[in-house]
Amino acid sequence: MNLAEHRRHFPALANKIYLNFGGQGPLPTPAMTAIQAAYRQGQAWGPFSRRALDWVTAEEQLTRTALAATLNVASADITLTQSTTQGCAIVLWGWPWQSGDHLLLSDGEHPGVVATVAQLAQRFGLTWSTCPLSFSNDNIITILEQAVQPNTRMLVLSHILWHTGQVLPITEIGAWCGQRGIPLLIDGAQSLGVLPLDLTGVDFYAATGHKWLCGPAGLGVLYIHPRQRERVQPTHCGWRGLRGFSDHQPQWTDDGQRHEIATSAWELGVGLRASLALHQAWGTATQRYERITHLAEKLWTELGTVPSLTRLLPYPPHCGLVSFRMQQHSPEAIAQQLEQRGICVRAVPAGNCVRASLHYLTTPEELTQVVQALQEL
Ligand SMILES: Cc1ncc(COP(=O)(O)O)c(C=O)c1O
Repeated sequence: MNLAEHRRHFPALANKIYLNFGGQGPLPTPAMTAIQAAYRQGQAWGPFSRRALDWVTAEEQLTRTALAATLNVASADITLTQSTTQGCAIVLWGWPWQSGDHLLLSDGEHPGVVATVAQLAQRFGLTWSTCPLSFSNDNIITILEQAVQPNTRMLVLSHILWHTGQVLPITEIGAWCGQRGIPLLIDGAQSLGVLPLDLTGVDFYAATGHKWLCGPAGLGVLYIHPRQRERVQPTHCGWRGLRGFSDHQPQWTDDGQRHEIATSAWELGVGLRASLALHQAWGTATQRYERITHLAEKLWTELGTVPSLTRLLPYPPHCGLVSFRMQQHSPEAIAQQLEQRGICVRAVPAGNCVRASLHYLTTPEELTQVVQALQEL
């Protein structure tokens, strides 16, 4: 499909160079139209009419099924959430911790997840530590071997580190965890919609639709492997997680829905499915990923020609995150100056860097303009 034509579905791409897909993806017109149509239909029937409620139930299941297909897992293992952080929190708060248990994280985890772990540790008498994966060229399994403790009960890692763009080998890590009986929680905020997913060996994977999938904000997804289903107990319990309620005894659903809580904006799912359909119409997950890595390599290489610029990774990223620093310019100042020139990137405090996050929707010409703008700074 012609990319210029395809990009016309995304109004946010018309008047700027948008390189903040890792923050929030632009919402395409078909998704906006689908969301509006869903709201109108609900009002036409009456939002709490039998007909509308049956429709909502069916639509939510379609959304679970579409996300399951994107994650390459069964739809029974899917929980609809609001965000990546919420998905991680469902697992972390629902796990049967014992005082003295230890959690291992990488040193590049997102603040929301780290805050949850710190709060858990305080509440349940746990310990936690980080292992130095960011910027490391060492073998990741060796680093994990050195950091794991006899009482480590969970490993929490991002699939793609949000500041450096390092892609962690989650299948290999999952196999290592499996041998030790340590459940693996993956934060997929920067990987869902970037690369084809193989969650073999992963116990939990939490992500969101509003970044690389270009869905509306407020709809995320959590995958729980069936072997862990009974161990994660619902924390914020609600009627959506129940299949029955007799004699005041809740009967939980047997699937991922048990962690869903109550009334929510199900119309967002209609929008996310419209975004997914657009991506699929352009190409397969593999074709989209190949284009992303090709563009990332181009930007990474051309950034090498900008004086006093340091790229965070010593090799072209295997994802859409390309991060760098410049002498004599703070990341915030660079992001601000680029935005004045119609280029959206972000400053990431964790890496004290500027992060350009590019998509398969990005064009090579846009990247050349970014490099020119940086040269002129
Ligand atoms: C690695 C990572 N985890 C979590 C988040 C937070 O995502 P959400 O707002 O969906 O919870 C982000 C993005 O902001 C992220 O990059």
